[in-house]
Amino acid sequence: MQNDVSRKLESKLDEIIFSKSRKKQLKDGFKKGKVINEVLDKPTVMTLYKLITDHIIAFVNGPVSAGKESVLFWAVNDNNENIALKIYLVSTSNFKKREAYITGDPRFSRLKKGTKNLVYLWAKKEFRNLSQCYDCGIPVPKPIHLSNNVLVMEFIGKNGSPSKQLLESDIYEKDYHQAISIIKQLYYDAKLVHGDYSEYNIFKTENGLVLFDLGSAVDLRHPNAKEFLKRDINNITRFFSKRGITVNDPKKVLEEIIS
Ligand SMILES: Nc1ncnc2c1ncn2[C@@H]1O[C@H](COP(=O)(O)OP(=O)(O)O)[C@@H](O)[C@H]1O
Ligand SMILES: [Mg+2]
Repeated sequence: MQNDVSRKLESKLDEIIFSKSRKKQLKDGFKKGKVINEVLDKPTVMTLYKLITDHIIAFVNGPVSAGKESVLFWAVNDNNENIALKIYLVSTSNFKKREAYITGDPRFSRLKKGTKNLVYLWAKKEFRNLSQCYDCGIPVPKPIHLSNNVLVMEFIGKNGSPSKQLLESDIYEKDYHQAISIIKQLYYDAKLVHGDYSEYNIFKTENGLVLFDLGSAVDLRHPNAKEFLKRDINNITRFFSKRGITVNDPKKVLEEIIS
């Protein structure tokens, strides 16, 4: 009986959150009306519902990309602008490996125990990182709002399709130079090291590169900041080099940044 009521409530909420979506069949094989039951837990559904009543978003169109730890949804606000929702999954999460990117960052010294708290903290960290970058004029999606495990930001792309990642794009020498200059801006202006800087976490748009996926970014005071920086430079250099772009010696790039 209780389950019946709860199921009805869920399907009602599903309708409210997704009803205005024009699509019947959502991307990635998600069926309309089943997203909530199969992907999102109840607290997340309530968080989405509150985003609507608070007029942060008008409705959700559907999922765009599903990773192991988060799902990216395409939503729309009251002004009909496209919005990206990065929803960190609480239930399926394995956040153990992420601890190394939080412990040691003085901005997050008070760690509460429990998966849910760690997931909320991770979302908060990504939001803080995005805000620090955005405020420094680094090209990242504009952060809009954070509520529990739901991060609301500018949608980079058109009509619900994200811009191409660097990986899938034609690239030129100027892209390499911008990629390195973003690492420098992160370091000098935002006082951050990305920690997962790669061709997968950079969009190539009409207006140049846009960096995203900043959950792993750490403060320069983090004990492993230098090591993460070295890895970031090595990874992106390897990518451009493999594609036949003339690159500088990553060791020299690192030295130049930290000296
Ligand atoms: N602001 C955004 N606008 C449009 N699409 C986005 C945005 N942020 C992420 N995406 C899409 O979601 C995918 C996963 O996002 P990402 O932040 O890299 O999550 P993960 O932690 O799973 O790697 C990206 O590859 C991209 O296609
Ligand atoms: Mg990513």
